[in-house]
Amino acid sequence: MVEHRHVDIDPVSRHIRTRRLLLRPWRLDDDIAACAIYGVDEVARWLCPALPGPVDRGDMRRMLSAWMAERDAAGLPLGRWAITDKRSGQVLGGVALLPLPPGCSDLEIGWQIAPAMWGHGYGAEAGHAVAHQAFENAGLSEVFAVVRPDNRRAVATARRVGMEWVGETTKYYGLSLHVYRLRKADLDLPEPACADVTEPTT
Ligand SMILES: CC(C)(COP(=O)(O)OP(=O)(O)OC[C@H]1O[C@@H](n2cnc3c(N)ncnc32)[C@H](O)[C@@H]1OP(=O)(O)O)[C@@H](O)C(=O)NCCC(=O)NCCS
Repeated sequence: MVEHRHVDIDPVSRHIRTRRLLLRPWRLDDDIAACAIYGVDEVARWLCPALPGPVDRGDMRRMLSAWMAERDAAGLPLGRWAITDKRSGQVLGGVALLPLPPGCSDLEIGWQIAPAMWGHGYGAEAGHAVAHQAFENAGLSEVFAVVRPDNRRAVATARRVGMEWVGETTKYYGLSLHVYRLRKADLDLPEPACADVTEPTT
């Protein structure tokens, strides 16, 4: 069982604290750490939409700058956060809650963790915290994750947070994607929310 229940939210600083993590707004001086996440193929190949190409430090600073402006415009519960180690401050990854185009009526959680930090539950802990703040502070009843076929690690993380597989669609980003949904009532389930759903193995 994954221990996720501890979530503290500061709406002014937009900081979200969990047992091991501090989620905080991105800063420009995160550029090198962010390159170790978004600039590596193990992460970039799974992003939806895909990045236009390899990401260098200059590209990353431009992306961070755009993310910071987007955050200032959106207000909670939407946004992008750097996932950091609460004790050391090390940037471990990124997590976002954003409207899904084209309709923008569904909200998507996306997770990215630096490959060297996979296997510690940081993605699931951060995803849970962002969903928690969306449900508790903004009155949302459901959020989604869209996952490329074969992205088994992302599927496992979605299930750990309590998400259910709801189907396959080409509705988002012009890609064929599997859709997972998290309902507020399922957030803290210790086991996958719907164990009898047979997911595709492709
Ligand atoms: C998807 C992604 C964030 C998942 O990261 P992850 O570290 O594999 O997954 P989780 O955060 O769910 O951690 C679960 C793993 O940590 C282990 N773990 C260790 N300590 C843990 C703890 N305290 N709590 C939970 N899990 C723990 C689990 O056993 C599991 O290990 P396993 O993968 O060997 O089975 C990561 O693979 C990634 O960044 N992928 C590329 C980008 C991507 O695909 N994003 C999703 C679409 S936007």
